[in-house]
Amino acid sequence: MSGFREAALKEMGLAPLWVRRAATAEPDDVQVLPQISEAVSIDGSLHVKTMDWPTLQSVVRDCTACSLCQTRKQTVFGVGRPDAKWMLIGEAPGAEEDAKGEPFVGQAGRLLDNMLASIRLTREQDVFIANVLKCRPPGNRNPAPEEVRQCEPYLLRQIALIQPRMIVVLGRFAAQSLLNTDASIASLRGKVHKVKFGETVIPVVVTYHPAYLLRNLPDKAKAWADLCLARSLIDQLN
Ligand code: URA
Repeated sequence: MSGFREAALKEMGLAPLWVRRAATAEPDDVQVLPQISEAVSIDGSLHVKTMDWPTLQSVVRDCTACSLCQTRKQTVFGVGRPDAKWMLIGEAPGAEEDAKGEPFVGQAGRLLDNMLASIRLTREQDVFIANVLKCRPPGNRNPAPEEVRQCEPYLLRQIALIQPRMIVVLGRFAAQSLLNTDASIASLRGKVHKVKFGETVIPVVVTYHPAYLLRNLPDKAKAWADLCLARSLIDQLN
């Protein structure tokens, strides 16, 4: 094990020996992601479905589709490479993300960076990190169904443009939204799901949200097992 990786595991509070081997991948049903409706247009002519990356960025930046635009400081489009093999999806920006315009920049973000480093990834080089919602719900309340409905086309278009080889979903809310299920996080993690987007099938691994892990340290080992599962699948596919 490299010193870098060992240091990242230590930073996560994990000694390598504590960590069980990643769960074996078991095929699941394929969840077909919804098509972006033709009706989702910005000015009657510009459809989210056909937007290129720069257009999508500027449309998200100026979005007023739901009332969150009245309370946000700025939108949080996402960070990383638009051609990344890995896409990470969280719930919604918090106060620090709202202030900085970047996802996962607080304490949970530092843990996320260490989790990434433990499987030899960095946010700058290897991944694109996005959220289900691009704006902060006030007081960090749960996203409302209408807010998710309005924001979903942006995430779907990000997935379509990035075409990631692997999606890692962080936390119950994002997992339930993407996989369209009410199942618990405990039942969703530890296996490989699949989403179908057009003709493309993308593997999805669900794991705990870093903010939850900061409060529940023993579950870090399970999160590392989930990341190892995703890493081994990507390595097999290459
Ligand atoms: N939690 C999330 O789900 N996303 C962020 O960007 C920050 C905290």
